[in-house]
Amino acid sequence: MNCTNDIKESNIVFDVIKKRRSVRRFDRRPIPKEIMEHILEGARWAPSGANVQPWRFIVVEKREMLEALGNICYYRIFKSRHVNEAGAAVVICADIEAGSATYMLDCAIAGTNMTLMATSLGIGSCWIGAFEEPTVRGMLKIPQKLKIIALIAFGFEVGKASAPPRLPLSKIVHHDTYAGEPDLLSRIVKSGPFSVFGKLLRVLFNKR
Ligand SMILES: Cc1cc2nc3c(=O)[nH]c(=O)nc-3n(C[C@H](O)[C@H](O)[C@H](O)COP(=O)(O)O)c2cc1C
Repeated sequence: MNCTNDIKESNIVFDVIKKRRSVRRFDRRPIPKEIMEHILEGARWAPSGANVQPWRFIVVEKREMLEALGNICYYRIFKSRHVNEAGAAVVICADIEAGSATYMLDCAIAGTNMTLMATSLGIGSCWIGAFEEPTVRGMLKIPQKLKIIALIAFGFEVGKASAPPRLPLSKIVHHDTYAGEPDLLSRIVKSGPFSVFGKLLRVLFNKR
């Protein structure tokens, strides 16, 4: 039995993690209330430093507000229509007076829980970190004691977003101590035409 392959093939958490994509085309349908509640429950059960739970969520569902928000949200440097077309957007804020040293991390984890919960329920999502902060603050009447961390657009996907590539584990994981970046030669040997030869050498010398 190949344990690693069995886990990869049958693990529902891994399935949802891999299935989640940043979706940038939605069909404007509203998110059913019970689904939105489930997504928010996912956030509520996120871990947080010292269990302070500094997150506050503003759920925007009114069509005209989503349109207005969409006009001040971006994909890279470009205006993007995904918030305009979303069924809802959740603005994640942190109460900086709640006494949390880790509010950024806490809110990021809560957001991740929401996107994974959404995926598991057939709802697409997209993090938005590029937005006009003062305009969002004014539009949603957000007080200064709340730091706006990010928005997440949710909706029913149109088409199917493709998966951008990920770095291989060999490039991002270090065992026990940081081993530095692989030098140019070993990068060529690992990924270029010499990779088979390189693999053989690694097996012979018992290297990862
Ligand atoms: C913190 C954060 C901020 C992001 N900001 C934006 C954004 O402003 N606009 C956007 O369209 N996508 C945004 N994204 C989505 C990324 O572009 C996306 O996650 C990345 O390209 C990988 O694609 P995937 O989510 O489909 O795996 C953001 C993602 C994260 C985690």
